Amino acid sequence: MHRSPFLLFLLPVLILPAASARGLHGWDPEIRMPAEETAMGQSEEDVTGTRWAVLVAGSSGYGNYRHQADVCHAYQILRRGGLKEENIVVFMYDDIAHNPLNPRPGIIINHPQGEDVYAGVPKDYTGEHVNTRNLYAVLLGNMSAVEGGSGKVIDSKPNDRIFLYYSDHGGPGVLGMPNMPFLYAAELIEVLKRKHAMGGYGEMVVYVEACESGSIFEGLMPEDLNIYVTTASNAEESSWGTYCPGMDPPPPPEFITCLGDLYSVSWMEDSEAHNLKLETIQKQYERVKTRTSNYNTYSPGSHVMEYGSKVMKAEKLYRFQGFDPATANLTNNMLRGYRRLEAVNQRDADLLFLWHRYKQLGEGSEQKAEVLREITAKMTHRVHLDGTVELVGKLLFGSDRGPSILTAVRASGQALVDDWACLKNKVLVFESHCGPLTQYGMKYMRAFANICNEGVSTAAMEEACRGACGDYFKGSLVLPGGRYSSW
Ligand SMILES: *[C@@H]1O[C@H](CO)[C@@H](O)[C@H](O)[C@H]1NC(C)=O
Ligand SMILES: *[C@@H]1O[C@H](CO)[C@@H](O)[C@H](O)[C@H]1NC(C)=O
Repeated sequence: MHRSPFLLFLLPVLILPAASARGLHGWDPEIRMPAEETAMGQSEEDVTGTRWAVLVAGSSGYGNYRHQADVCHAYQILRRGGLKEENIVVFMYDDIAHNPLNPRPGIIINHPQGEDVYAGVPKDYTGEHVNTRNLYAVLLGNMSAVEGGSGKVIDSKPNDRIFLYYSDHGGPGVLGMPNMPFLYAAELIEVLKRKHAMGGYGEMVVYVEACESGSIFEGLMPEDLNIYVTTASNAEESSWGTYCPGMDPPPPPEFITCLGDLYSVSWMEDSEAHNLKLETIQKQYERVKTRTSNYNTYSPGSHVMEYGSKVMKAEKLYRFQGFDPATANLTNNMLRGYRRLEAVNQRDADLLFLWHRYKQLGEGSEQKAEVLREITAKMTHRVHLDGTVELVGKLLFGSDRGPSILTAVRASGQALVDDWACLKNKVLVFESHCGPLTQYGMKYMRAFANICNEGVSTAAMEEACRGACGDYFKGSLVLPGGRYSSW
């Protein structure tokens, strides 16, 4: 592959704007209301049925440390809340705790001063078994459809409650998985509908952290499935990694990767700081929305969105996340002084990691040269994707209309695409000529969706992709130093 070492020097330029507005570091405590509820007013309503949870980290690689850290942390919160291990299914690649780059072998943290969150996390589905097939089978409670892993599934009853939490990269209409294919929004919604039709739960709460995560539910999520959803971002913006090296607050100096994600640490730190028998779903949504927007500055930050059965918001959170007796005397107005967090765009977090890795290695070492090759390959591949997607648009629609058709955003409330099979097909056609979309390329899902919305045929797409990429891709596109990459 052609290398462009000069791209390396663009790197700080790419990353710095994401960490903009340094200087607004002051503590920004949330507005404190007079005690609206007290510990004495604790609801003692009986919780019938079983609490279940599915936790999914959809990435791999040390540069994506934060997604698995989020999921491990969520597991600890739910266990302290009284959920049983047998009722929590964890999907994580499991290449972080014992990664050679982990400065604390066998330990994962999700906060700069955080304790280990890895100990005790069950290895239900790890490595190659972290895939959409298994996720759908687990959600549907279909043990015979699961391949590999512990075989644990959500064998839930009509009165049970399910909490689903997903942390990863995403793009319009898709969520990442460490093993292909991506999770497509319409398929997930279909699985949720099937679970509902089976009488497989009473209520469900879904939290999703990913870029453009609103697009998974926008225009797709019914309001009558007894499922309440919040997402880290709306349908057309990034979500953000946080506790990143060089940012405020930084991880301990020996870490060269981000420890968490803005929306994810916001809900988890909120759950830990409150008595969940008192806190409603609504209250958590509001607090997380405020914090994820970085106190309405969006600098950086994203718009937390909600979908589905909003009538559920009045319910107390412990019905889903459980109740930790250690929080018994916390009232809802006792808060940590939350502060503004600097953050990095999910898509630039891997470059940030490689950049710190590069700086850390000794001059002239073979490893340093290898990391440099990896950075340039990644940058070159990004330039390739940016250029070819644009070119495909021009070939299909002409150079005037192409770019605006590819980036057009449908009215809010409308799904990304009408024909999801078409979307999958267009991605396949593109990849077969131009190489894998990869984590970064997920941002172009809207372009492929719009190609479908314009009614472009498979044959026309084939021709445009062949025109744009020629014989670029012969099925062997591998990054040098690929062991640090999650493709
Ligand atoms: C479970 O999965 C198997 C294998 O995919 C399938 O044949 C079967 O119909 C599924 N069962 C249910 C209840 O969906
Ligand atoms: C909460 O307060 C009660 C009464 O003061 C006390 O007995 C109990 O130990 C406290 N619980 C915790 C977890 O601090």
